[in-house]
Amino acid sequence: MAGNRTFTMIKPDAFAAGNSGAILKMIEEAGFKIVALKATQLTPELAGKFYAVHKERPFYADLCKYMSSGPIIAAILEKENAVEDFRTLIGATNPANAAEGTIRKIFATSIEANAVHGSDSDENAEIEGNFFFNQFDRVR
Ligand code: TYD
Repeated sequence: MAGNRTFTMIKPDAFAAGNSGAILKMIEEAGFKIVALKATQLTPELAGKFYAVHKERPFYADLCKYMSSGPIIAAILEKENAVEDFRTLIGATNPANAAEGTIRKIFATSIEANAVHGSDSDENAEIEGNFFFNQFDRVR
């Protein structure tokens, strides 16, 4: 079902602040269905693999450290136009630039601790979902 799914993480800052439930509520109210869901924690190595596309960027080392610093929630979400609509729901990477009412505007505390991840393409949504979930971990 290419095009109808995206992948998200509730990042360590939002999880630690007890905002996971409120964020999942916003996601469901925006029309996304949960296809797979788990609480887990990345190692620095796994965070490095997940964000390998950024490995030459100056923020990469800090990002890997931060993303492995505490529990997260990983989820696959389904909705028509999922990738684009989810990026709209979460808002800009830097919460200072995020639109009013977006998840990052409400819950993010910095560009690094920006509350949630959202895939940036259908192809990456599939890769990222498969990074966390096998075929038995998801709704068929
Ligand atoms: P990016 O893929 O550019 O943003 P998005 O998550 O909105 O797709 O960057 C991945 C993550 O890297 C971003 O969510 C937070 C972190 N990051 C920084 O810590 N500093 C930065 O300057 C940028 C651009 C990103």
